[in-house]
Amino acid sequence: MEIKKEQEGWSLYKEGEKVGCCRVTGEEALELWVTPEWRRKGYGSFLLKQVLRQTGGYQPRQPSCHRAVLGHEEELPFWEKFGFVRENGNRLVRRRQPDLSGVELSHRLVRDLCPAPGLAIDATCGNGYDTLFLSTLARRVIALDIQPQAVENTRRRLEEAGADNVQVLLEDHANLDRVADPGEADCVLFNFGWLPGGDHAIFSQPEKSIAALEKALELLRPGGVLSAVLYSGEGIGTREKEEILKFLQGLPLTRYTVIVCRYANYHHTAPLPCIVVKKG
Ligand SMILES: C[S@@+](CC[C@H](N)C(=O)[O-])C[C@H]1O[C@@H](n2cnc3c(N)ncnc32)[C@H](O)[C@@H]1O
Repeated sequence: MEIKKEQEGWSLYKEGEKVGCCRVTGEEALELWVTPEWRRKGYGSFLLKQVLRQTGGYQPRQPSCHRAVLGHEEELPFWEKFGFVRENGNRLVRRRQPDLSGVELSHRLVRDLCPAPGLAIDATCGNGYDTLFLSTLARRVIALDIQPQAVENTRRRLEEAGADNVQVLLEDHANLDRVADPGEADCVLFNFGWLPGGDHAIFSQPEKSIAALEKALELLRPGGVLSAVLYSGEGIGTREKEEILKFLQGLPLTRYTVIVCRYANYHHTAPLPCIVVKKG
């Protein structure tokens, strides 16, 4: 089976024969058509799924909106299977809002509170996703992790993305004061816990984590932002999360604004994004 993008939309070919098409109307709505002898055999589903995929309908992080024309009333369950609902008469709409994960929320808050950092530090670089995010935002990034595997994974991810503004170090974040001077950093990110895909017996420990948070606050310039995503659950337990929360709650209001973003209707072990803004 082959899908070809053509002037008016997409066509579906089976062994060279056109068996369906998905046209985009003047009102930017999708109109699906399958040759009668090939209906109810999954070709329409295949075509629509591909069109949705190619037009951002399954992006894990981006919201999307698609409109469609309902040809016949009995086709409604077909469209509903893909998340379309009736908007008005024979007009359908599919709006998709991806789940806002703890990490995604922390990125959005950092981007909003600290839009153009000069120096950003990723204190737990792991597989490099947070570092890559920071590299798109900051002029210069320092990333560190205690595991050689994490350093290697981060370097590879940055190389693949062509990011050349990052220094990746094998370093314990309890020694954060070795990598920058007080007041030099615009933001410091922590994503505690274990290395996804790595050895789950190695994970951040409260004593070092709190020492690292204290040092990170020293490294921040006034107005700078610290972001920390906390974890708990099987293996990790709750000690680190509880002790970090106690530490954050004890920060003086005169010097810091502290926000803990708890998901009210998730399981209590859901990642917990926390933000600290150092006052000017
Ligand atoms: C949840 S992962 C980080 C995910 C990562 N930021 C990413 O985007 O892929 C937690 C990481 O913290 C690291 N870590 C744990 N204790 C550390 C410490 N004392 N110093 C630096 N990194 C540490 C672990 O090795 C692990 O790679």
